[in-house]
Amino acid sequence: MSCTIIVGGFFGDEGKGKVVAHIAFADHPSIISRGGVGPNAGHTVKIGDKEFGVRMVPSGFVYPKARLMIGTGVLVDPRVLRNEVDLLQVRDRVFVDSRCAVIEESHIQRDKGSEHLAKTIGSTGSGCGPANADRVMRVARLARDVPELAPYLADVPREINSALDRGNNVLLEGTQGFGISLYYGTYPFVTSKDTSASQIAADNGVGPTRVDDVIVVFKAYPTRVGEGPFSTELDRAVSDEMGIQEFGTVTHRQRRIGRWDGSMARYSAMVNGCTQAAITGIDRIDPACAGITEYGKLTRKAKDFLQQAEEDIGHPVTLISTGPDVSQIIDIRDEV
Ligand code: IMP
Ligand code: MG
Repeated sequence: MSCTIIVGGFFGDEGKGKVVAHIAFADHPSIISRGGVGPNAGHTVKIGDKEFGVRMVPSGFVYPKARLMIGTGVLVDPRVLRNEVDLLQVRDRVFVDSRCAVIEESHIQRDKGSEHLAKTIGSTGSGCGPANADRVMRVARLARDVPELAPYLADVPREINSALDRGNNVLLEGTQGFGISLYYGTYPFVTSKDTSASQIAADNGVGPTRVDDVIVVFKAYPTRVGEGPFSTELDRAVSDEMGIQEFGTVTHRQRRIGRWDGSMARYSAMVNGCTQAAITGIDRIDPACAGITEYGKLTRKAKDFLQQAEEDIGHPVTLISTGPDVSQIIDIRDEV
């Protein structure tokens, strides 16, 4: 394994951050680089009693030995970046591609001020849609035009491809999820860019022939924030009764909860070119599985669910998350 892409298979918030963190500690990548839209993403990583929510810095930051990069296709908000770099003390290992487009205050105003984006679509209000529009119109400023970003600038594709040439492991982190892809999602209730694995490779200047593995992360009970169709959605009263409640990392809005969607999982695995899948939240299928780290110790109920999920996806489920902490995971990637 050398170049691995990790993407979300449902509507975002599948627990990619936690899966990335686990793989980073297990596989020692020299670079962890982010693709995806921009600071509309929120990744939560929990280690021991510390919980971090990041929007710009790759969620693999918890692994201290990797250089952390933001790929060319990603929108950068310099204020969000500065706050995270200070908070996480990762100043000396964060790099931003000089061609990233920059989010300005005016983009945030346009995002929040637009009836269509703020109300109908339910955007995160982080300025991403208007900034991507400006990039397409070729009027957006790039990272290389912003003095504050000068210390971080790099040629991310060159760094990644050189690392792969040297035989290092590289992780490419996706953000958002398949269901909110601009191309493949529930348009118009989608984000402002494709979110599939090919896009994450393109965001980082990595050609398709260099990618070895695509891990698609699915949540046992998928969630969706913002507006738009969600065919397996549960009534709030039902999910509340089941004790499932989640709130967004960026907007703190309550997430909509749904049942497992096998046909969406299959289609998403197909377009993403899935080689292996990760399933998070198995402890919600059966609370008796909370914190388990060995496959053999899972309950019958959990194993039945995983078998069905594997059939739906059509590829092996090799990572099973049993709780929020990075240590709460079953990793059987070696066994397939
Ligand atoms: P925008 O990307 O801020 O324009 O928001 C468009 C839609 O995508 C809204 O429904 C958001 O809630 C959703 N969205 C954007 N980023 C994420 C994410 O990282 N996780 C989950 N939903 C997201
Ligand atoms: Mg999130």
